[in-house]
Amino acid sequence: MTQQANSHVFYAQGWNAEYQLAEHGEGIYVFDSNGKRYLDAIGGTHCITLGYGVEEIAQAMAEQAMKVPFTHKVQFTSAPQEELASAVVEIAPPGMNHVLFVTGGSTANEMAMQIARYYHLVRGNENKYRVIGRWHSYHGRTTSTLSMSGSQFVKREDMQPYQYDFPHIHAPHCYQCPFSRTYPECGLACATELADTIEREGADTISAFIAEPIIGGAGSAVTPPPGYYEKIREICDAYDVLFIAEEVVTGFGRTGKHFGIQHWDAVPDFLTSAKGLSSGYAPMGCVILHDKVTETFFQSQRKTVPTFVTYSGHPISCAAALAVQKYVKKHNLVQQCAERGEYLKQALQKLAERESLIGDVRGKGLLLGIEFVQDRATHEPMPRTLHFTETLIKTAFANGLITRGRFGTGTQINGDHILLSPPFIISEAECDELVDLLAQSIQQARAQVAI
Ligand SMILES: Cc1ncc(COP(=O)(O)O)c(C=O)c1O
Repeated sequence: MTQQANSHVFYAQGWNAEYQLAEHGEGIYVFDSNGKRYLDAIGGTHCITLGYGVEEIAQAMAEQAMKVPFTHKVQFTSAPQEELASAVVEIAPPGMNHVLFVTGGSTANEMAMQIARYYHLVRGNENKYRVIGRWHSYHGRTTSTLSMSGSQFVKREDMQPYQYDFPHIHAPHCYQCPFSRTYPECGLACATELADTIEREGADTISAFIAEPIIGGAGSAVTPPPGYYEKIREICDAYDVLFIAEEVVTGFGRTGKHFGIQHWDAVPDFLTSAKGLSSGYAPMGCVILHDKVTETFFQSQRKTVPTFVTYSGHPISCAAALAVQKYVKKHNLVQQCAERGEYLKQALQKLAERESLIGDVRGKGLLLGIEFVQDRATHEPMPRTLHFTETLIKTAFANGLITRGRFGTGTQINGDHILLSPPFIISEAECDELVDLLAQSIQQARAQVAI
């Protein structure tokens, strides 16, 4: 166990906290230096898809390190980068045929924003630079991705001097509808708000709209209703606004399809992803581009879009991601994720029948969220002052269960929800163990906050 007091590491996330030394991982479990076992129900932070300790990934990385660990992309490419790009394009939505590899989720979104800007510049629209985001979202920790984010959790206000004037619309959160309406009578008010916002802000200033197909950590698997992204696509086309499907969490199988947007009939202009691409074995992210964007560049006078960062397309990260994607294909893990997700969701729904604090169980594949409420009839959230999420996460960790949660409903700061995103290789017996540990932790947390 380590604390700031006896370490030279700057524990930016909390210097009064205690940190366990993670010694090794095996399958869905992490073991600390005291030998205590934790069921990793959050997959590192939604990235571990294959589980811990897969030897062939480590071997692929070691082999690449021996061959050539680094090359600069101004002069070189590498075999794993080329093969990985082909593998990614093979599973990407139709018409998305090029990939830029970067270092993680924030850089993927930052680069998509910059490439979108170049797209409009090339077409003579130099005022189109603003990105519309959604409340209840997270897109990264760089200042521009914070400007796109809308989650109260990230404390954007602290960085206010560095924020761009990016507008936000409400999240498609049917359980806590920001318009107090009901689907389908609502007429998808959460989607048409995009058109209203573009009109109000001026279409000639809006470059792109960014949205997670299914909201990850910020909203704990908030899933839009049918027709939502089809409507979004229509609106983006009508106003010459590019659609960025932000799949940092939902990409590479997590929702039971290769990409989350494939649950709807809509093809984005950019698809950004990270986490599951390399299953956490190496830092990695990507921007997948639609031909509409790349062809505009290829046919223009412009010869480059300067998006280089030193470690983009890093050969060892590419080798890791390539080995991961081959493993996912060989073991049919996307299908397994869909099936195991259904099993886990049903088990959570059964738990909800006997645990009155559980208001909503939602999500797809192995990206499942639970929203806790004090009144199931009205969906009234618990007051923030109770800190139920934090108490539950801490209690679960003490019980050997790793999960993560956030607060807020998108329109108010009250509200507690947690996200479950275990590795795709979780077995049915391990799903049962997860639910048992969670049930026990909810009971204990409930007693602690006296609700
Ligand atoms: C939805 C989403 N987007 C972007 C990011 C930022 O990714 P990174 O931390 O790799 O920069 C995260 C990180 O958790 C995320 O969950």
